[in-house]
Amino acid sequence: MTEEINQHYPKAYQQISDATKASGFGMASDVLTCALLRTLAATKPSGKFLELGTGTGLSTSWILDGLDQQSTLTSIDNDTKFLAIAETFLGDDKRLTLVDTDGAEWIKNNKDKKFDYIFADTWHGKYLLLDEALSMLNTGGFYIIDDMLPQQNWPEGHQEKAVKLIKDLESRDDLLLTKQVWATGIVIGVKK
Ligand SMILES: C[S@@+](CC[C@H](N)C(=O)[O-])C[C@H]1O[C@@H](n2cnc3c(N)ncnc32)[C@H](O)[C@@H]1O
Repeated sequence: MTEEINQHYPKAYQQISDATKASGFGMASDVLTCALLRTLAATKPSGKFLELGTGTGLSTSWILDGLDQQSTLTSIDNDTKFLAIAETFLGDDKRLTLVDTDGAEWIKNNKDKKFDYIFADTWHGKYLLLDEALSMLNTGGFYIIDDMLPQQNWPEGHQEKAVKLIKDLESRDDLLLTKQVWATGIVIGVKK
């Protein structure tokens, strides 16, 4: 199997990618991860989607590309400068709500909301407030994280955090988990 994406990329992807490089944003999602995000997004027609950690909107553009017209995506980040790139290239999409906020605050203020798909790509909802984020997932909903295989840019001590997160996820009896040794190490859970 080839590691390339031979299908079309989302419309705004190249522009966002160019702006991302120019901005110096160094935490961009891997394109293979993004392709899987789009494929999984397409399984939830009329779905409610949540992305924690918009960055510049790279993964956001792929998730949107998998959504039908009845679905909605809320994507949050606390970095105004990077969010502005997502706003520039994706802001016209009526299905998308971009929120400039702290992850902890947003989860605490929205804990009663329910989603069919959560891509947790920042601290909150992944290494922090995990229980709270998972309680926002509908039955049958996807919980998706990446960067779970050792990465060169991991700071000292991050490996231990990643191992603990996997153990925490594995210990839950309300999640069916698959850990992939592919791309940056994507873990997918489905809520029982
Ligand atoms: C791994 S990057 C997201 C990458 C993005 N999904 C992509 O496709 O390129 C993590 C993001 O979390 C954001 N972040 C860090 N701390 C945060 C916080 N306390 N609340 C909200 N977002 C935060 C950063 O600004 C950064 O954009």
